[in-house]
Amino acid sequence: MKVLGLETSCDDTAAGVVTDRHQVLASIVASQIEIHGPYGGVVPELASRGHMDAVGPVIAAALKAARLGWGDLDGIAVTHGPGLVGSLLVGVSTAKALSFAHGVPLLGVNHLEAHVRSVFLDHPDLVFPMLSLVVSGGHTSIYVSREEGRYELLAETRDDAAGEAFDKVAKYLGFGYPGGPVVDRLAASGDDRAFKFSRPRMSDGSLDFSFSGLKTAALLAMGKEGIQPLKGNVNDLPAGEIAAEDVPQVIRDLFASFQRAVVEFLVHRVRRLVADTGISTVTMAGGVACNSRLRIDLAAAGEQDGFSVAWPRPAYCSDNGAMVAAAGCLLLRQGRVAGLDLDAVPGLTLADSVVRP
Ligand code: KG4
Ligand code: ZN
Repeated sequence: MKVLGLETSCDDTAAGVVTDRHQVLASIVASQIEIHGPYGGVVPELASRGHMDAVGPVIAAALKAARLGWGDLDGIAVTHGPGLVGSLLVGVSTAKALSFAHGVPLLGVNHLEAHVRSVFLDHPDLVFPMLSLVVSGGHTSIYVSREEGRYELLAETRDDAAGEAFDKVAKYLGFGYPGGPVVDRLAASGDDRAFKFSRPRMSDGSLDFSFSGLKTAALLAMGKEGIQPLKGNVNDLPAGEIAAEDVPQVIRDLFASFQRAVVEFLVHRVRRLVADTGISTVTMAGGVACNSRLRIDLAAAGEQDGFSVAWPRPAYCSDNGAMVAAAGCLLLRQGRVAGLDLDAVPGLTLADSVVRP
């Protein structure tokens, strides 16, 4: 079985081809970082237009890389939510047209399920039950899957997503979008104890996440210490081009301390939920799963507490078409084919039920 996956829910136009054995035959991503970078975040209207320009060439490149024609495909999978409505519509309309024109079954994929399934691309032998941490620019949630394709929500953010918090703190300090990778890189030469950020506590005792308080604490620390955002044309540069030594030490310290607070919060929740559920397989995916400190600290927690942790390579953590194709393979195997009335659903959720431990 070979499925083409199409992803246009946010700021990446991506197409991938995957087999039902989790083998990636192609994964092509056209990033819009250069379009949104100067604005410090994704501009929805520019994102939709960017997808319109990129979607055709990206699909053609994926099929070429996989050396396949339309007749070789068993399914066309597309993210139909959650995400930005204009962006989603580009992918959904394209997939519907291709499905109709080539007579290939259409599969409507939930973007969050695609992130969860991305882990299988590098760890095909993972076994259920498992806890899945999805940590990205739009979402921060932990699900429990007791069987394939079924999800219960254990915890989610009540305000900002973890990636969004990284992006905003980087933006306050004068860096362009996305902020997560630059915080990660600059934090490596910062003192993570220079600033104290306490772990957010939910007043109702729930295990949900909240990142907006941490973000505000970072902003207040900037004011208190008189930290000025970087000046000049830093927003016009891809974040990767700024050398650490050109960034004041106090900014690197703030990044390191903020990153530590976010990571400790995420790892704390995972440990609690492993203890509460007794499930000892943990997976992690989404753009923030690329964070080097999160990887190190989660792996260390697993070793200490006796749970296994798995995440895919960075290219499959951030938005990509292969993960959509992987989720599409599961839908196809389960006979969950979509009709041509498939619609974009910006607020689509994943869980069949919500369990608050
Ligand atoms: O999964 P993704 O590509 O798109 C969404 O579905 O949101 O995640 C993008 C997010 C951005 O907020 C970006 O800043 C964050 O992932 N991110 C990181 C790192 N790499 C990407 N955050 C922290 N550390 C990183 N190394
Ligand atoms: Zn995503």
